[in-house]
Amino acid sequence: MAKSDKKRVVLAYSGGLDTSVVTRWLVERGWEVVCLNVDVGFLERDPGLEERALAAGAERLVVSDAKDTFARSFIFPAMMAGALYEGTYPLATALARPLIAKLLVDVARQEGATAVAHGCTGKGNDQVRFDVSTAALAPELQILAPVREWELTTRASEIVYARAHKIPINVSEDKSYSVDENLWGRSVEAGSLEDPWNEPQEDVWEWTKSIADAPDQPGYVEVGFEKGVPISLNGEQLDPVSLILRMHELAGAHGIGRMDMVENRLVGIKSREVYEAPAAVALMEAHRGLESITLGKQQLRLKHRLMQDYADLIYDGLWFTAHHQDLASFTRSMQRHVSGDVRLRLHKGVATVVGRRSPNSLYQLSLATYDEGDMYDVSAAPGFIQIWGLPVRVQANVQLLKQPGGPFDIDGIPATESPATTESPPIT
Ligand code: ARG
Repeated sequence: MAKSDKKRVVLAYSGGLDTSVVTRWLVERGWEVVCLNVDVGFLERDPGLEERALAAGAERLVVSDAKDTFARSFIFPAMMAGALYEGTYPLATALARPLIAKLLVDVARQEGATAVAHGCTGKGNDQVRFDVSTAALAPELQILAPVREWELTTRASEIVYARAHKIPINVSEDKSYSVDENLWGRSVEAGSLEDPWNEPQEDVWEWTKSIADAPDQPGYVEVGFEKGVPISLNGEQLDPVSLILRMHELAGAHGIGRMDMVENRLVGIKSREVYEAPAAVALMEAHRGLESITLGKQQLRLKHRLMQDYADLIYDGLWFTAHHQDLASFTRSMQRHVSGDVRLRLHKGVATVVGRRSPNSLYQLSLATYDEGDMYDVSAAPGFIQIWGLPVRVQANVQLLKQPGGPFDIDGIPATESPATTESPPIT
């Protein structure tokens, strides 16, 4: 590869106003810019993308289709871990950032670049995710974030700059909201959403039907899982990307996957964002349904405690860390028996598990039934209760029954008087 004496940078390029202006801004400061456009799903095929990158001053445009890697190595592991930030957001945007950072580093090395660049602002989480991931993977690379430092602080000033530099931009695009989309979900903020009292207007939603327009009849879908990974829909084996896209259509048509939240950003700001993630919501529900029969009680308890940690590390830009490796190993191990099928009902905004089965099911009809064929040994129950309740009886007798008013004088409800005995019966 012929190399000039200019320094080279690889820029994460979407083709929008910000990254087009960033391209020229870097060129003006003496950089040779290679634009990298990463397809993590729902990227509109934009035939003018390369032309726009070149017109903005890029040396060339590299396009990377990362959908399959995104689904296999980022989305499914997060799904299996049950990762939902603050209990709600399935982390679509947050999950894509470390992958894009990895690809920036790969291309930087191929191209002999000494820096990578992105178009993130200084107020968001994404700058942290890009910078921390890049530093973990390639400490030798410089990281440039022009939007964080330049003088173009408003969209209008960026448009003026673009016009002055003859950068072709599509200013007709509606910019009242800031939108980020990928296979796992769609994130929408700004505009009228900045007032958390404002109900999201119908125009924020693009992937999901409103409840009013969703069909009156429920739809059903059967999801097959192998070791926690979804592998089929209605018995048809599908590759990860096709499976997510198929579920996206099915669940979105029933109005499933709308979320409206005020979240705590890593950089200390509370922000209001709405999300649409029909496939994520439906698949995570199905996965939970299968775990309920294939994981033991303690496994489920531990998973519940750890899924919040998993969500936080994704949100907080800590993908390339030893902590993540540990949690991922745990998740993989815990999923080894999570194989089987789940039947979901999709109806008016809700995905409900209505059936689950697995060759590894811990649900035993012979133990659970109240009908014929009961194998549960009822005669063992009193002995179990005798031992289980022993410490309760000791404590009640030694401490609680001697309290004035008895042990359970709650909220003014008079307790039954303890017998006025000084001698406690022996505890057996
Ligand atoms: N708040 C989400 C996150 O930090 C999404 C950020 C991007 N949102 C957007 N509308 N551009 O992961």
